[in-house]
Amino acid sequence: MTSTALPTTDDLRARARAALGNIGVDVAEGGGFPARTPLTGEHLFGLTAATEADTEDAVAASCAAFVIWRTTPAPRRGELVRRLGELLREHKGDLADLVTIEAGKIRSEALGEIQEMIDICHFAVGLSRQLYGRTIASERPGHRLAETWHPLGVVAVISAFNFPAAVWSWNTAVALVCGDTVIWKPSELTPLISLACDHLLARAAEEVGAPRDVHRLLLGDRAVGERLVDDRRIALVSATGSTRMGREVGPRVAARFGRSLLELGGNNAAIVTPSADLDLAVQGIVFAAAGTAGQRCTTLRRLIVHRDIADTLIERLTAAYERLPIGNPFDDTTLVGPLISTTALDTMHGALARVRAQGGKILAGGNRRLAEAAPAAAYTEPVLVHVGEQTDVVREETFAPILYVLAYDTLDEAIALHNDVPQGLSSSIFTRDQREAEVFLSAAGSDCGIANVNIGTSGAEIGGAFGGEKDTGGGRESGSDAWKSYMRSATNTINYSTGLPLAQGVSFL
Ligand code: SIN
Repeated sequence: MTSTALPTTDDLRARARAALGNIGVDVAEGGGFPARTPLTGEHLFGLTAATEADTEDAVAASCAAFVIWRTTPAPRRGELVRRLGELLREHKGDLADLVTIEAGKIRSEALGEIQEMIDICHFAVGLSRQLYGRTIASERPGHRLAETWHPLGVVAVISAFNFPAAVWSWNTAVALVCGDTVIWKPSELTPLISLACDHLLARAAEEVGAPRDVHRLLLGDRAVGERLVDDRRIALVSATGSTRMGREVGPRVAARFGRSLLELGGNNAAIVTPSADLDLAVQGIVFAAAGTAGQRCTTLRRLIVHRDIADTLIERLTAAYERLPIGNPFDDTTLVGPLISTTALDTMHGALARVRAQGGKILAGGNRRLAEAAPAAAYTEPVLVHVGEQTDVVREETFAPILYVLAYDTLDEAIALHNDVPQGLSSSIFTRDQREAEVFLSAAGSDCGIANVNIGTSGAEIGGAFGGEKDTGGGRESGSDAWKSYMRSATNTINYSTGLPLAQGVSFL
C-alpha cells in the first residue's frame, strides 16, 4: 500500500522555513553545509558549518559558563529546563515538522519525539531537587562519612539522525540540572531541528537569566566531533551512533582520562513463546520492526519464535506487512516513511543479498517504492526474512527495516540465540507464562540493558535508564540514576570529635 502523493522539495522548504520562523530561527543561507530532506532526497538549504576557531570559541565559552553554572543552586538550574520544556510544548507542531522533514518520521512519531523531550524536561526539573548523596556509617566515633555529588564540567553531546532532538534532550536536560554546560554536535543529516532546539534553549536562558553559553551548538562534519573528542577540557563525551563510531570515540576519550557515555548499535530480538497472546505480539512486533522505517537503535531485528507457532505467526505478520501504508510521512495514514538516504537503502539491499546467499528466504516485503516519484529518496517495504540459523549477517546491525525470523524448540535455546550477538541494547519476550517471563528477566535471561515483557523492543519511556551492554557501549542516559554519569562524587569524612582516631585501628604518633 502506498499513501498519498509526496510533497515537492519546494513545499518542504517552505514548510521548514515556516516552522523555523515560528520558532524564531532565521535560516542564513548560502553556506556549503547542506540541509536535506529524505522525503525527496533533495537539498533544502545551504548552511554554515563550524570552523576550528568556532569550536575553540565554543569550548572556551562553555568552560567559562561552567564556572558560573556549577555554583548556581540546582533548583534554579531546574528553572532553565522548566522554561525549555514550556517552549518545546509551545512549538511542538513546528518542531515535529522539522523532525519529519529532516529524519522522515511519520507525524505521530515526530510528535512523540517532541513529547519525549517535554517529558525529560519535567523529569529533570524534579531531579534538580533530588541530586541526593548518602550518609554512610563511620567506623570512628564523632565522625560523619558522606557522599556528595558535584557538577562534572563541559559535556559534549554527539547525536545521531534517528532521534535528532530527543537524544539531545535526554542528555542536555539532565546535564544542565546537574550543573554542567553542554556543547552539541548533532548529526550532519539533521541541522535544522538542531538550530531550532538551540534557539529555544537560548531563549529560555535569556528569560530565566542563565548564561547563554550553558549551551553551544556546532554544526559540522566528523572533524567537529573529533575536536571535541580529543579536547581535554571536555569532561564527558556522550555519543550516540554506530559501534564503529564508538570504537573510535571510547579509546580516544579514555586516552586523555575523559569520561564517555556510549549508546551504540543494537541487534534487538523478541522471543515469542507458545503461550503468547498473538494479537498483541503481532502489533508489538510490527511497530518495533517497521516503525521509524527500522531506523531506531531499539528496532526489532530478530524474531525468535517457537516452532509450534511459527507458521501461524509468520502468516499473520506477512498479512500485516502487506497492508503497511508506505510513503509521505505527513499523511496521517502512512506508517512507514523513507529511509534516511539511498546509501541506507543500498546497505539494506546488500544485507538482503548476503542473507539470501546464506539460505535466507524473503517472506514479505523488500521492494523499493516511489522510485519514479522521488528517485533521490529511499522508500522501501519493510522486509520479513526467514533464516535457518543466526549467520554473520543476522548477527550484524543493518540500520533498515529487516526482520529476521528464527525458530526455536526450548526456552534455553531461544535465550542462547537471543544473547548470541555482539550487541546488547533491547529485548523482549511475548508470553503468558510467568515462569518464562521471569527466566527471561533473570540473570540467566536477556543480557541487554532493556528487557521487556509483552511489548516490543522499541518505544522506551524517559523514566527508565536507556542504554545497553556489550557492543552497545554500556552507557545509560535519560531517567533513573543515569544522572550520576553527568556528575562527580566526592566522599567526605568529617571529624566532629576532639580526638583523631585513625581508620582500621591504625596508631601513629
Ligand atoms: C532509540 O532507538 O534510540 C530510541 C528509543 C526507543 O525507541 O525507545
